[in-house]
Amino acid sequence: MSGTVQGTAGEDRTDYTKDESRVIRERSQRLLLSLLAPMKWRVLLVSIVVVVQTGVRVLGPALLGIGLNTALPAVTGEGDWGPTWGVVTAYAATAILGAALLAWYDTLAAHLTQAVLLDLRTRVFHHTQRLSLEFHETYTSGRIISRQTSDLETIRELLNGGLTQLVNGVLYGVFTFIALVLVDWQSGLVIVVAVVPLGLLMRWFYRRSQVRYRETRVWSAQVIVKFVETMTGIRAGKAFRAEPGNERIFAGLSEKYREANMRVIRLFGTFEPGLMAISAFATGIVVLWGGVRITWGEFTVGALLSAVLYVRNFFTPLQEVATFINSFQAASAALEKVSGVLEEEPSVPDPESPTALPEAHGHLRFDDVTFGYGAGRTILPEFSLDIPEGQTVAVVGTTGAGKSTLAKLVSRFYDPSEGSVTLDEIDLRDLSQQDLRRAIVMVTQEAYLFSGTVADNIALGRPGASFDEIEGAAKAVGAHEFIMSLPDGYDTDVNKRGGRVSAGQRQLVSFARAFLADPAVLILDEATASLDIPSEQMIQRALQTLLADRTAIIIAHRLSTVEIADRVLVMEHGRVIEDDAPETLIAGTGTFAKLHRAWRESLV
Ligand SMILES: Nc1ncnc2c1ncn2[C@@H]1O[C@H](COP(=O)(O)OP(=O)(O)OP(=O)(O)O)[C@@H](O)[C@H]1O
Ligand SMILES: [Mg+2]
Repeated sequence: MSGTVQGTAGEDRTDYTKDESRVIRERSQRLLLSLLAPMKWRVLLVSIVVVVQTGVRVLGPALLGIGLNTALPAVTGEGDWGPTWGVVTAYAATAILGAALLAWYDTLAAHLTQAVLLDLRTRVFHHTQRLSLEFHETYTSGRIISRQTSDLETIRELLNGGLTQLVNGVLYGVFTFIALVLVDWQSGLVIVVAVVPLGLLMRWFYRRSQVRYRETRVWSAQVIVKFVETMTGIRAGKAFRAEPGNERIFAGLSEKYREANMRVIRLFGTFEPGLMAISAFATGIVVLWGGVRITWGEFTVGALLSAVLYVRNFFTPLQEVATFINSFQAASAALEKVSGVLEEEPSVPDPESPTALPEAHGHLRFDDVTFGYGAGRTILPEFSLDIPEGQTVAVVGTTGAGKSTLAKLVSRFYDPSEGSVTLDEIDLRDLSQQDLRRAIVMVTQEAYLFSGTVADNIALGRPGASFDEIEGAAKAVGAHEFIMSLPDGYDTDVNKRGGRVSAGQRQLVSFARAFLADPAVLILDEATASLDIPSEQMIQRALQTLLADRTAIIIAHRLSTVEIADRVLVMEHGRVIEDDAPETLIAGTGTFAKLHRAWRESLV
């Protein structure tokens, strides 16, 4: 298992070392850049609009101050109203222009964020689907679901509201400060002094909330994981009355999630009063010092009005910055998780320059293959096996002997740690996905049906197959009759009431699927386990025609399936302990002969 797999596919954690934090941060930044890069012109336009809009808005208080200074003499009769009207017109103009620019910004920003989200959503789906089985066996479906749902939702919240808050807070703050210095540098000085405790407060909040937010992401994912797991295993849960236990665990996790959220909220309890105190103090000093200067005749009422408005405008949006930091922290914690998944590499990568295999013959070979799952113990030690083209091989053996593992290596769900698996003398690692999947098909006990009609599900075997071909495949494996008895025959929706089919029927459908695919190598892993005896006998007949001209590996506990094989392998602890024609083995005294005798006796 590679380093990245252990870093992210393992348990979600909250305690990162400095180096790990840096790596994670860089990973998030890379993702963000790659999302924004294709839209750089739009980003530029949004930035320009927002800067102009903020600049226009900042003019307001200055114009009010000037207006007051020109209006006061007009009121007392020492001046005329002309300049005041000019200021009023300018004020109205900036207000209207500001509003129009804001509307434009909102639309632009909305388009941008929706485009980013769409991109991210499809990337996560595409990538998680592409990742190898090894990833999905360690990264539970609940965690994947929370990546695609709650994490993306958090990022959406940041993009929708948070960025506007940041712009309001930071850009508006900077512009306001500049305007304040221009109007009255002494009041500007008050802000400069206030920035010191303000900076400390912000830094404290930022750091604490980062840790706290990671916690909430982890617990939120855990809640979803538990929920998904309980619902996926609902049958087993009910059968073994696991409900009270599940409820207890779920309640515990929800409680942890609540506590994590509470800790975040408590940070606000310190931050907001702190901010208010600094703001009140600064405003007080500006008013006091301004008042004193007015009595000295060094300052005007209009300038004081502007200064006070600017000071207020400087602090008020900072509350929003806290909200922004909040959604920023939540979103960057989510982005960390999402980027982790996106940077995960498939453990069975596609070859860069695949060897073409236009027509597979089905000659399979294991050359000194050593294999273990991840860093775990070796399951197949130096395993060698040669299956000539067209041979039907039955594999039997005790539970856990490594039969399914063998099948998974042939289908290249995993790659061997050492040695190689070849098809027609070509290493599976050198075959393109397309050639590989066309040549080798595995049918397992799982027999999954996707939503859609029965015909759709069979057609998965060969996309574009005609209805006649689909029906032909169903007839060949003996699935036709039961399909015709469904409410809408081949057009029955498998997820609708009445379309629900039994486990055995599902297996028949996946047989038809495999029949239609017509691969050079067919692997059946316990694929007949759910069939009743009559349909199994039917399958047996169908299998004989189906397997006639292809290589087949049949893994089965039922020995009836084994009788049609040319060769039987008995496996134990990852090794082949018997390997011969079925008649020869039965005639002997080995493990298979004993198994077979016991089986025959059970039949009478
Ligand atoms: N995804 C996995 N990760 C880690 N270990 C695994 C995984 N799948 C199987 N194993 C281990 O590999 C060994 C062989 O498993 P395998 O599924 O190949 O057995 P099998 O012969 O198919 O058994 P059965 O007859 O019960 O299906 C077992 O000891 C099992 O614990
Ligand atoms: Mg198995």
